[in-house]
Amino acid sequence: MQRRNLFKVVLGASVLALAANAAFAQETVKIGLILPMTGPFASTGKQIEAAAKLYMAENGDTVAGKKIELIVKDDTNVADTTKRLAQELVVNDGVKVIAGFGLTPLALAAAPISAQAKVPQIVMAAGTAIITERSPYIVRTSFTLPQKASVMGNWAAKNGIGKAFSIVADFAPGHDSEKWFKDSYTKAGGTMVGEARVPLANPDFASFLQRAADAKPDAIFVFVPSGQGATFAKQFVERGLDKSGIKLIATGDLPDDDILNGFGDAALGLISAGPYSTAHPGAKNAAYVAAFKKANPSMRPNFMSVGGYDGMHLIYEALKKTNGATDGDALLGAMKGLSFESPRGPVTIDPATRDIVQNIYLRKVEKKDGELYNIEFATVEAVKDPDKASR
Ligand code: DHB
Repeated sequence: MQRRNLFKVVLGASVLALAANAAFAQETVKIGLILPMTGPFASTGKQIEAAAKLYMAENGDTVAGKKIELIVKDDTNVADTTKRLAQELVVNDGVKVIAGFGLTPLALAAAPISAQAKVPQIVMAAGTAIITERSPYIVRTSFTLPQKASVMGNWAAKNGIGKAFSIVADFAPGHDSEKWFKDSYTKAGGTMVGEARVPLANPDFASFLQRAADAKPDAIFVFVPSGQGATFAKQFVERGLDKSGIKLIATGDLPDDDILNGFGDAALGLISAGPYSTAHPGAKNAAYVAAFKKANPSMRPNFMSVGGYDGMHLIYEALKKTNGATDGDALLGAMKGLSFESPRGPVTIDPATRDIVQNIYLRKVEKKDGELYNIEFATVEAVKDPDKASR
């Protein structure tokens, strides 16, 4: 009898300990934010980290009774490192969401981890169409390159640009841009006079720009990843192309608001298609830009930053809907179909593809108060990823 009582006491104590543990574990929801914080794409990491922290500063670090803890890791733009960090964060740190992913190869490297562990993976930057198909737990808050390139191609053909030459960075988002610019441009009546792919690492655009100039297009269409625009702009001017009469058209990645002021007046008149501009009109964005600049005086929020800001909003809203439950399937269910007002305008998470549906704006580089901005002049509303829609 005594033995049995003792057994009950011991068992009771361990159940209590377990329950206390579980209660403690429930109190904090950890989010692993994996980004390139150093190297050539550090601006993407810095923009997203700054925006995620701003979101938390504005909205508090408690949601549905849970404390939110952000763990930021630098993957240095090495895919193997992204994968290892994702695994460590999930297995050792017990994060309930992994987020960030500054470039396509980095997002793809983490996809098997999110699929196997059933952990939501919020892609806040990378833009190749196929990414969301690599894990059912991926949700994207950035953009797809086909969204931007297709809008640019259609607009160019319908606005007096009869011949175009495309120059893209030679990796998956560049290939997506090339294909979707060409498809929409030629369908709307334009003629391609050449295409070139430039190596991603240490790009030298000079010889490609010469080839483009020799083909005598009305415009050169460009995709380079965020951070490489300044190198492109410098070489464009060095070749004298700014005075050649050849127009420059691009996805919004080239005239990135973070570095646009460094391009100089040669950038004036550049036309691009993108989901976000620092100069996007409206009260929501005015408040976002002011708060972002106050917290980060040397930066202007760019299109990558809103991917981070909206990604945090998505996580917060999903936790509210699940009442704080962190089960991967419950969070995914809460995220699918969610619509909200972003600094960039209205957005929805497409429940079928888990990609973001958003306005794509046509913008022209203009000078205002001594600074260069992408000023919107037309809107294509509620653009879905055309790549998935075409299959
Ligand atoms: C990707 C990276 C970028 O910096 C960008 O501007 C667009 C796409 C990418 O790797 O998917």
